[in-house]
Amino acid sequence: MLDAVANQRLCRVGPDDAMGRALRHYWVPFLLSSELAPGADPRGVELFGERFVGWRDAAGRPGLFAEACLHRGASMRLARAEDDGLRCVYHGWKFAVDGAVLETPNVADPKFRERLRGRAYPVQEAGGLLWAYLGPRESQPAFPRWPWMDLADDHRLVTRHVEACNFVQVIEGLVDSSHLGLLHMNGLRQSDSVALGFAQKVNSMQRHLAPRLEVQETDFGFYYAAIRDIEEGAERRTEARIAAFVAPFTVLNPNGDIATFVVPQSDSQTAFFHVFWSERDALNREPLRARHLDFIGLGPAVLDAFGLTDETIGRPDRPGVANRFMQDRDAMRRGESWSGLPGLIEEDVAASVSAGALRDRSHEALSAADVGISRLYRCLQACVEAAEDGRRPPGALRAGGWHDVVGTHGVLEGGDWRDLLPRIG
Ligand code: FES
Ligand SMILES: [Fe+2]
Repeated sequence: MLDAVANQRLCRVGPDDAMGRALRHYWVPFLLSSELAPGADPRGVELFGERFVGWRDAAGRPGLFAEACLHRGASMRLARAEDDGLRCVYHGWKFAVDGAVLETPNVADPKFRERLRGRAYPVQEAGGLLWAYLGPRESQPAFPRWPWMDLADDHRLVTRHVEACNFVQVIEGLVDSSHLGLLHMNGLRQSDSVALGFAQKVNSMQRHLAPRLEVQETDFGFYYAAIRDIEEGAERRTEARIAAFVAPFTVLNPNGDIATFVVPQSDSQTAFFHVFWSERDALNREPLRARHLDFIGLGPAVLDAFGLTDETIGRPDRPGVANRFMQDRDAMRRGESWSGLPGLIEEDVAASVSAGALRDRSHEALSAADVGISRLYRCLQACVEAAEDGRRPPGALRAGGWHDVVGTHGVLEGGDWRDLLPRIG
């Protein structure tokens, strides 16, 4: 439970907000690599309550600019895309992706431009994602290198969708194992019959609705374990599913081959990036790609139909709060559908968004099933406090790679779930 002041402190992401200042200590994914083609039109991007423009020059170098032109603030979304830079249509100032000012045609002094720097941010491209750092240069952390970034593009499938609510309530669903067998019961039943590796990994959750939940604090955030005693005929075993929360918005799924990034665009809208990978299978090649996306519910048709794209979010003809997410109440009555919603992603979105754009936490009743939630609050509070004290917050401390931080699952042979992890930091 959080009172209104504590809640706002945790959730508000603008440049003058406590969490907003903490968030600006991290590298943040802002688009899929595939969303910026070389030389294409500039694309509007919203991050942490501010507006930017993403663009890639003809040589393929990606960039992120503040939307307002350095000169007098005209929108760079209107800018002309030239081979080596974006040119503001107002007075023709031209900016390279690294911020170099290439031309200022309305100023006679040719040296004038050399004294200026465009409003461009540091950008990296890795793992099929474009990442930016929005904070002060002096606190820029090492770029987070994850092992899946080194796989061939064919072996990694990345998606982005948008949800009409605050980021914290979206993350809550990722450290909340006990909703899986309820909210998603139809999808999990289907996993019995689907020959996808992903489906098989989540299969056991439908057989135990009240897992034991434990958390372990780490230097990057926390591990979150859901432990289930499974009985199948004469066989008994104890399974642990362990997610890693890496502050402030990354969750490594217990399946071990899914990373998710829940990135605030504003106080009330969130971009959700999924990375699925496989060393063995070319996940990103058809027909595997389409089958995988279909099962999860992240295919382009689903995202469009449920209003989860930049173009469709908030449209009245799409599922939303006003039309009760177009829930199929008849199917619920007939016992064919638990939630009345078509798939896993739609169920998660409806659960998160229906709580309100920025949900009230002054009236919640956290239970033993919610240890991940209370730990999430504490961890995010620690991020805010560290940033306020001028320290690097959790998750921004590492200098090296992230190969030893994993989501994982396994059968416990009488030992502790922590034995399944490479190490506890
Ligand atoms: S406002 Fe952009 S060049 Fe003047
Ligand atoms: Fe879910």
